Amino acid sequence: MKPDMKGRASTMPGAGRLAGAAVIGYVLLTAGGALHAADTFKGRQLYTTNCVTCHGATGKSVIPGAPNLGLGDGMMRPDFTLLNAIRSGKNAMPAFRGILSDRDIMDVIAYMRTLH
Ligand code: HEC
Repeated sequence: MKPDMKGRASTMPGAGRLAGAAVIGYVLLTAGGALHAADTFKGRQLYTTNCVTCHGATGKSVIPGAPNLGLGDGMMRPDFTLLNAIRSGKNAMPAFRGILSDRDIMDVIAYMRTLH
């Protein structure tokens, strides 16, 4: 990280802290990406095995209450937020922590971003 970034962030009062967190998140994600470029092919296999029964082949829900995971509202969130949502589950959505690794989930997210 360039030494002047800290100074720049503090010139934005209020937003500074949030921007700082976003920068750290971005750096973490990019660092992860450098180690492992998301594999949408593997993501597709994992999606077909684990998600398609509820979220459908195109991301359009096939059960009541599941969001549309095709391009659109459901996916307008950063990878990290989706990763947490998939790890934790919610109501009828099963938790995938311990079933899929974070790396697997990132592959699935990369694949979901190609759905429409
Ligand atoms: C048993 C059915 C089922 C399966 C299997 C399933 N989901 Fe879901 N999923 C749901 C439902 C229902 C919701 C909506 C939960 C709610 O908001 O109450 C949901 C929500 C989500 C959300 C949005 C979560 C949020 O916080 O808004 C994502 C992202 C998601 N699923 C991804 C996946 C992925 C990726 C897989 C496969 C690894 C998967 N789901 C497997 C039923 C399922």
